[in-house]
Amino acid sequence: QLQTKHSHRRQKVLVVANRLPTKPKRDADGNWTFERCSGGLVSCLAGIRAKFDMVWLGWPGADFNDVEKDIVANEAMKQGCYPVFLRQNLIDEYYNGFANNVLWPLFHYIMPPFDKGVNECSTGQWEAYRKANEIFTEAILSVYEDDDYVWIHDYHLMLVPKFLREAKPDCNIGWFLHTPFPSAEIYRTLPWRQEIIESLLHANLLGFHVYDYLRHFLSSCVQLTSLEISAHSVDATSIGGCIVTCATVPIGISPDEFLTGLQKPEVKQQIEQLHEQYAGRKVILGIDRLDYMKGIPHKLMSFGRFLENHPDWADKCVLVQLAVPSRRDVPEYQRLQRQVHELVGDSAEVRRQISGKHSSIATGVPVIYMDSSMSPDDLSALYNVADVALITSLRDGMNLVSYEYIACQHGKTVPGVLILSEFAGAAQSLGAGSIRVNPWHLQDTAHAIYEALMMGSEEREALHDYAFKYVSEHTAQKWAETFLQCLQEACSDLMEVTSQ
Ligand code: F6P
Repeated sequence: QLQTKHSHRRQKVLVVANRLPTKPKRDADGNWTFERCSGGLVSCLAGIRAKFDMVWLGWPGADFNDVEKDIVANEAMKQGCYPVFLRQNLIDEYYNGFANNVLWPLFHYIMPPFDKGVNECSTGQWEAYRKANEIFTEAILSVYEDDDYVWIHDYHLMLVPKFLREAKPDCNIGWFLHTPFPSAEIYRTLPWRQEIIESLLHANLLGFHVYDYLRHFLSSCVQLTSLEISAHSVDATSIGGCIVTCATVPIGISPDEFLTGLQKPEVKQQIEQLHEQYAGRKVILGIDRLDYMKGIPHKLMSFGRFLENHPDWADKCVLVQLAVPSRRDVPEYQRLQRQVHELVGDSAEVRRQISGKHSSIATGVPVIYMDSSMSPDDLSALYNVADVALITSLRDGMNLVSYEYIACQHGKTVPGVLILSEFAGAAQSLGAGSIRVNPWHLQDTAHAIYEALMMGSEEREALHDYAFKYVSEHTAQKWAETFLQCLQEACSDLMEVTSQ
């Protein structure tokens, strides 16, 4: 439990993320539902809410009128949440625009097209990003009490540390990045690089999934500031910040939730049904958000290559690909959906390459594609029956699907094999428990599929044991506790420095 400087009350952790963990919706009859959102952060923090006094501040996912706002706010408060309402035009410019059309691609190493400079098209979006970050800061200030810990998440809210420090100089501020932090050579192209980096340096602690991201951040600090920088800290006192600690705190999952889920009779039944459905065929599973960084087209083409190389496998395996719709208002995501639909069925050429050429009347097409989300129980059953999980992210902060797959394979006589992109943060933790691939090299992935399908049980077990040990030791709860512990230490170090 976190200790408070003032003994009269229990300290709160204010979790500040772009999205609330609950999604309010009103049906045609006017009835409200508040569904739990999907996504890594939601599952990670859900497990630790019992342990800490926590208030979660975030956007409730849509624009609401004043009457609706009251209903949403009341229900959210019951769930320990505080909604930050944003108008539709701000959502378009800040969330769909600057956050997901400028920062998201750049942080994943995608530069703006050269005929459409980011500078030219995004100034209004930058202003909206600033505005949204101000609105989030005001929301924090309305629930903040002295000594609370403020834990800001992700690339959406990088201006909050400075706004908050200016309003509350003693505030305990931590920020965690869920995406990669790109190489300084990429980051430096961002026209607003200075404002963003200087704002982050107003936090006490900056957390990253893997050491490379931390290193890239520090290189950017070296190149863009004249501050004193060491291996794990930056002295930002001269710009109104503090001695900022930078730490690697890799996220995890709650494997017990999956292991318990697998024991439910309805999940066991679902597993049996899936075994019947795919009898005689090995299941290769892909589960991703429908995001261009997940490399879904590369995966489909690699699977096509595998079938070209090994036509005898065409009626002995199936690729089940679940693509969970995401950020549907961003044009790049709409383009991706069209591309993937073409790849799995509509385009004559690719149908020939992937589905048509290798399908037979007896077994059907070798790719089963769904773009929808799935309940946690159905997901666990699917993870469990899969003989191979195929993760081909072109760049990925961590990738918790790989962890979930490992958890759901546990206890099987012959565990499945994880094929994992070397460009996912998870490759640094699960690399030795998987077959690592370069997803850009279609033949490499095609070969890995073959290798995984042919792998003997001893080698499968060895890979699984390694990966499962890691997943069960580095849990979501441990991640959150470690981050909060580091934050507390970073803040007490600051007190020592300032009291000397
Ligand atoms: O990985 C970054 C992230 O922002 C996660 O925190 C989130 O779960 C996921 O992407 C989906 O994001 P969005 O809120 O845009 O749907």
